Amino acid sequence: MNKVLSPQETMLQEVLHGLSLPQKSLPSKYFYDQRGSELFDEITELEEYYPTRTEWKILTENLDKMSSYFGEQILLIEPGSGSSEKTRILLSGLDSICCYIPIDISGAYLEKVAEGLRIEYPKIDIQPLEADYTRPFVLPDIYSSSRRIVFFPGSTIGNFKRETVNRFFEVISEIIGKEGGILIGVDLKKDVLILEAAYNDSKGVTAEFNKNMLVHLNRKIGSDFNPELYEHKSVWVDNPGKIEMRLISKEDHQVKVMDEVFDIKKGEYIHTENSHKYSLDEFEDIASPWFNVVKVWTDEKEYFSVQYLEPR
Ligand SMILES: C[S@@+](CC[C@H](N)C(=O)[O-])C[C@H]1O[C@@H](n2cnc3c(N)ncnc32)[C@H](O)[C@@H]1O
Repeated sequence: MNKVLSPQETMLQEVLHGLSLPQKSLPSKYFYDQRGSELFDEITELEEYYPTRTEWKILTENLDKMSSYFGEQILLIEPGSGSSEKTRILLSGLDSICCYIPIDISGAYLEKVAEGLRIEYPKIDIQPLEADYTRPFVLPDIYSSSRRIVFFPGSTIGNFKRETVNRFFEVISEIIGKEGGILIGVDLKKDVLILEAAYNDSKGVTAEFNKNMLVHLNRKIGSDFNPELYEHKSVWVDNPGKIEMRLISKEDHQVKVMDEVFDIKKGEYIHTENSHKYSLDEFEDIASPWFNVVKVWTDEKEYFSVQYLEPR
């Protein structure tokens, strides 16, 4: 039987693997320690970062219509809940939510957010779950007669590679069962200049967020990355249609992780995040093995979409 690894052992294993690849790569989930979560919140308020305010507008303008799909007694589950800011639109606007389970890898931040939510929404049972949703996790066995709705905003679905998105949809379909539903935010394809600006903001917050991953790894697994030796850059990759976030090395140097030493050349980059962008048809295609797209809401520029899906 395989030994179950602790989160730290998993982190070490994934970092060693990622740095051994011909194209060095680190998993985007490691952006998120307390500081990373705070920096992401700052990003959502930047002028160039259109996704949060656009999704917010779609949700507030259409909540009534969305709620007609949800049913009477809802167990709301949110993987990658972060600040739960957008979830407040649902928690405030829908009387039918009896319990909310925010799930996040950033444990201390999740607890802090949950404490605030308990005060703001005393009638809703708030049950935070610290977990990595890319690995097996167990939901608390509660409210078994309620309808399960997964809320997955922020186009976090775009962080999954096409190969792994299938496995994630399988996990979600197991969570909601045959009777549940998903409300999901999906960022849409658009002008490359708008996309690249959103991920290369002029204040440098995204750059700090990207480099914070190295600080986080140094603290957790004792690696010796020097963030000063890297430059942040996000670029559009046409095929398959994604923004790639990169840390480009400014000089030849070495990085030590446990007993392994990795050579990093000047100009070489470490890939830290994918943000896939979809057309509505492309997204329906990738969801279709698991879910029917029941309804799509977009903004007037068609920058972003919020979609309601049900199991096939
Ligand atoms: C892009 S942010 C989105 C936050 C929020 N849902 C929103 O729409 O603004 C991604 C969130 O997912 C969390 N996250 C990223 N990878 C994760 C993983 N593998 N397991 C659990 N949470 C994860 C991060 O900590 C962060 O809070």
